[in-house]
Amino acid sequence: MNLSIRQIQPVFVGEVSGVDLARPLSRDDEAALEAGMDRYAVLVYQLTDEQQMAFSRNFGRLEDARGGNITRPEDKRLPEGMNDVSNLGRDGEPLDRASRQRLFNLGNMLWHSDSSFRPIPAKYSLLSARVVNPIGGNTEFADMRAAYDALDAATKALIEGLVCEHSLMYSRGSLGMLDYSEEERAMFRPVRQRLVRTHPVTGRKSLYLSSHAGGIVGMPMPEARILLRDLTEHATQPRFVYVHTWRRWDLVMWDNRQVMHRVRRYDESQPRDMRRATVAGDAPTAAQVDAA
Ligand SMILES: [Fe+2]
Repeated sequence: MNLSIRQIQPVFVGEVSGVDLARPLSRDDEAALEAGMDRYAVLVYQLTDEQQMAFSRNFGRLEDARGGNITRPEDKRLPEGMNDVSNLGRDGEPLDRASRQRLFNLGNMLWHSDSSFRPIPAKYSLLSARVVNPIGGNTEFADMRAAYDALDAATKALIEGLVCEHSLMYSRGSLGMLDYSEEERAMFRPVRQRLVRTHPVTGRKSLYLSSHAGGIVGMPMPEARILLRDLTEHATQPRFVYVHTWRRWDLVMWDNRQVMHRVRRYDESQPRDMRRATVAGDAPTAAQVDAA
């Protein structure tokens, strides 16, 4: 990675790339930046994908992003390891209204926990705002520990040992996206997650809900769905929710084991560039059943 500075205003201001803000500067880089200040007077630093991933790696191994979307490899905009949660295509323009990728991504507007559709679900997510949309696009977080604590004793007893089935096909199916190729069906095969999970460090219990949850093992489907819907309504009451209004360059990290989140609607004709690094979890929450 070589340091370079690009002028971004006709008379001054340089944008710096190729410098790792998380490490001490080398003597050469320091000299280059001093020279850049002499020349441009104002320097703008960007959080690069590499820096975001390097910072995220402080907290564990990064999750393999494969299997989490329907975007074809040739359509990917970001390097391996970064989750693209923008509304942009490879050309940097907002996706067409009918784009299947766009329609699939609308599922992020449902309350969810990242990667609850994986056998070992995510630990942390670290989301960086590169371009903030002018209208809407807040991200909301709901505290699943407080929501669990507030349940009555009978409900806690009812859900204690329950195991849910999670799949991207359930969250997208609830939006009417029901057509998947054989390959996608195999990739999005449901996985099992406990409905009540216990934090490995604090020992605190939380509701492990997500729009990806579409069934409960051993329970008739409508009964399972109504219970999940009821718990989700309970857990997302305003008293359990924080609304984050994005400023450019904000980096927000959250624990998917303890919170749900969703993005709110925004102006899709305008760019919204958000990039996520995901720290992998270390264990499944429930025993899996191998597909036949
Ligand atoms: Fe998410």
